Amino acid sequence: MGHRVIEQVVCLEGSLGERLSDIYAACFSGAPWFEEWTREAASQELQSLLAKGADIVAVECDGEIASIGVGVSVEVAGDAAQLIALGIDRGSYYIAEIATDPAYQRRGLCTEICMILEERARAAGATSLSARTRFDNIGAISVFERLTMQKIAGYSAETGGRTSLRVVFQKRF
Ligand SMILES: CC(C)(COP(=O)(O)OP(=O)(O)OC[C@H]1O[C@@H](n2cnc3c(N)ncnc32)[C@H](O)[C@@H]1OP(=O)(O)O)[C@@H](O)C(=O)NCCC(=O)NCCS
Repeated sequence: MGHRVIEQVVCLEGSLGERLSDIYAACFSGAPWFEEWTREAASQELQSLLAKGADIVAVECDGEIASIGVGVSVEVAGDAAQLIALGIDRGSYYIAEIATDPAYQRRGLCTEICMILEERARAAGATSLSARTRFDNIGAISVFERLTMQKIAGYSAETGGRTSLRVVFQKRF
């Protein structure tokens, strides 16, 4: 069986929305985030991004949704003011979420999705591609570096009651 890219998820109702929410909840619950995400909470988070005009790209492997990436104008991202103060361009396209089902990680799925998001950013006339992650998120950092994004800032932030360093990435077009 194959590999299929869903270029734009337009509706989070039904089994597709449930599967995407489950991947999100599995990837962002527990260590190192120390948060607990239910399917419902994950679904609301994705719905709110969709309502802000986000691009949601997914990849299906062997008939199962395996990975998701969300890109949005940085100006409508959750911490827009902070991200812009840290050096992200106002006209940037921000990779807000990336998550690959643990069973499908390290197959290049996230890299593929981020490359599609970069194309989307360029087509939309964005001035840069940007992202941020924890300083110790080897997977995310590897993907951003593979896209030749550069580290432009660091700061500390709290998630799940614990403070850790975050790294901000940007690639200007
Ligand atoms: C970050 C994440 C989305 C990467 O997804 P992925 O589909 O596995 O990424 P890719 O397969 O495209 O990885 C590309 C490269 O990154 C590196 N990489 C990815 N995950 C890695 C890991 N856990 N450890 C070390 N290197 C890793 C590898 O170099 C990999 O290439 P290789 O397998 O050819 O060596 C995934 O690890 C994930 O869902 N993590 C939990 C959620 C999360 O932290 N999201 C980011 C929040 S900002």
